[in-house]
Amino acid sequence: MREDFPILDQNVHGHPLVYFDNAATTQKPRAVVEALRSYYEHDNANVHRGLHELSSRATEAYEAARARVAQYLGATSADEIVFTRGTTESINLVAQAWGGKFVRAGDVILLTEMEHHSNLVPWQILAERIGARLRFVPVRDDGTLGLERLDQLLTPEVKLFAFTHVSNSLGTINPVAELCAKARAVGAVTLVDAAQSAGHMPVNVVELGCDFLAFSGHKMCAPTGSGALYGRAEILDATPPWHGGGEMIVSVTLEKSSFKKPPHRFEAGTPNIAGAIGLAAAIDYLEGIGRSAIAEHDAQLTSYALDHFADLPGMRIPGPSGERGAILGFVMEGVHPHDLTTFADQRGLALRGGHHCNQPLMRRFGLPGTTRASFYFYNTTAEIDRMIDILREAVRFFA
Ligand SMILES: Cc1ncc(COP(=O)(O)O)c(C=O)c1O
Repeated sequence: MREDFPILDQNVHGHPLVYFDNAATTQKPRAVVEALRSYYEHDNANVHRGLHELSSRATEAYEAARARVAQYLGATSADEIVFTRGTTESINLVAQAWGGKFVRAGDVILLTEMEHHSNLVPWQILAERIGARLRFVPVRDDGTLGLERLDQLLTPEVKLFAFTHVSNSLGTINPVAELCAKARAVGAVTLVDAAQSAGHMPVNVVELGCDFLAFSGHKMCAPTGSGALYGRAEILDATPPWHGGGEMIVSVTLEKSSFKKPPHRFEAGTPNIAGAIGLAAAIDYLEGIGRSAIAEHDAQLTSYALDHFADLPGMRIPGPSGERGAILGFVMEGVHPHDLTTFADQRGLALRGGHHCNQPLMRRFGLPGTTRASFYFYNTTAEIDRMIDILREAVRFFA
C-alpha cells in the first residue's frame, strides 16, 4: 500500500520521512492523483451549463461524485450532499444559512469544550449577530465529555447541538448516536463535525441520526479544497441560500431571484469539479481497504504508541487512556511543543506542535499546546519505534 504513496518514500533532513501529521492533512494515493490528471487531460469543462460533450462528461462525473459521497455516508439521496471546501465551509454554511433563519434571540447553541475553532467561531459570530447564547458540555479530566451534565444543558431552549465526532487534540471518540438521540428528544437540530472520523471509521448518517454532518476531503486522501456537508433533506429544503451567484438560481430579474432546490441552491459559482472527482476516487480507494480495517489499524497503532510512550520519562498525554482515535497529543515536561516538534523535524519526523485550533481546550488542560502525532493506514509500528527513539533522544537533549 505504501507504494501508492510515493511522497512517503523520501529523506527529510537526511533521515527517512516519518509522516505523523495526518490529522492536519493526509497524503494522496496515486489513484487520486491519477483521477485528477485524467479529468484535466480528457474531460475538463464547466458543469451544468455547457451543451457540449466535455461539459456533459464533467457534469456526469461531478454528479456521480455526489452520489458516491452520499453512498459513503449512508445518506438517503445525493440531494442531501452539498459540495463545499471542507469542514470549515460546511459549518459556516449551516451557521449562516440555517442558523440565520432558524436561530432567534435568546435561543441556545450547545457546543462542547473540545471543539475545533471551526465548530466554535462560526457559532460565536452567529450568536453575536442574533443575540443567541452559547453553552458548552464540559470535558472531564480524562478527555471524555461530561455526559452527566447533559440533561441540565440540553434543555428545550437548545436550537442546535454541534459537536465533534473525534477530537483533533485528545483523540476522544464521542458517542454520536447517543448525543443525537438526546438532542432530538428536546427538538434540537444536530451537527456532527466528522473532520477526524470520515476517513477513519464507518460513518453512517442514518445510523448516527444526525441532521447535519461536515467533513473535509483532504483528511481522507482527497485533494485540498474538497469536502461536503450532509444535510437531512427536510432541513436542507427549509434552509435559504447562502452564497448568491450563478448556478444556484432558477430565474433572475433585476429585482429578485428564485432559487434551485438543494443541493444546487448552496453551490453558487463554478464548483471545485476536480476536487469532487478526486474525492470520489479517494472514497473508492478507502473502501477498497475498508473503513473497519482502517479503524482497526488506527487502534493497533495507537495502543502500540501509548504502550511505548509509557517508557518515556516526563511525558504527559492528555486524552482517554482507553478507546481513542489515531491521535496522540503529548507534552514533554519543561519543553515547549514547538521546540520538540522542530527537534523531531530535524530527524525526518513530521509531527504538529501548537494549540491545533483548540485554544479553549488547551486552556482547560492548562497547556500552552501539545506536540501531536496522528496516524493513518499507511503508517507502521516501525515508524512508531522511530518516533520513540527520537523522543528518547529529545528527553536527553532537552535535559
Ligand atoms: C475536528 C476538526 N474540525 C474541523 C477542522 C477543520 O477542517 P478544515 O480546515 O479542513 O476545514 C479540523 C481540521 O483540523 C478538525 O480537526
